[in-house]
Amino acid sequence: MMTTPDTRNDLSKKYALSAPHSEIVEAASRIAPGKALDLGCGNGRNSLWLNQRGFELTAWDKNPQSIATLNHIIEQESLSHISTEIKDLDSLRFNGQYQLVFSTVVMMFLQPDTIPQMIADMQASTVKNGYNLIVAAMDTADYPCTLPFPFTFKSGELSHYYRKWHIVKYNEEVGQLFKTDENGNRIQLRFATLLAQKAPTKN
Ligand SMILES: C[S@@+](CC[C@H](N)C(=O)[O-])C[C@H]1O[C@@H](n2cnc3c(N)ncnc32)[C@H](O)[C@@H]1O
Repeated sequence: MMTTPDTRNDLSKKYALSAPHSEIVEAASRIAPGKALDLGCGNGRNSLWLNQRGFELTAWDKNPQSIATLNHIIEQESLSHISTEIKDLDSLRFNGQYQLVFSTVVMMFLQPDTIPQMIADMQASTVKNGYNLIVAAMDTADYPCTLPFPFTFKSGELSHYYRKWHIVKYNEEVGQLFKTDENGNRIQLRFATLLAQKAPTKN
């Protein structure tokens, strides 16, 4: 039988949002819908996509305009199980019981001192067998970060934080920023990409 792709829930197109991050799409294929926390949600491309697939979202960002855009979509579409709040991750402690806690392309904008406690809070806020997903810029010898980000990961640094978890996926592949260099070429950097499960396998 032929099936028609379901585009009814494709809010990205309707509201001209970027597509969800590819790592979110990949992670969602293995994670049963549950409570999820989006740290630095921007306009909510990832939160909206997950919400449309049955996840209950909490989405935070420090940019009031981004949260207003997301709230507008939530209101227009009468969405439920998605809540937003303006929050500055640089001055925040949090806890909770989430199936998935994620932060895509955000940590490089945070202060270095924020990162250890934020990751500790992410881990503590994750239920047993739940997941953390992080994608963040790096500064490495072969791809030095030329942008004035307050924080970048060094090689192996992010995976080390998750050494007691089951690391489902970890890589430090080269990716492109939308920003271009003086020659008009998109700036290339390594990104630490991690999907880890809070599995009780290691001490
Ligand atoms: C490149 S965008 C990524 C947005 C979203 N995670 C995504 O994948 O589409 C970076 C986001 O981090 C947010 N951000 C930067 N510093 C922050 C902070 N201190 N607290 C909360 N959000 C912050 C920005 O407002 C922006 O929405």
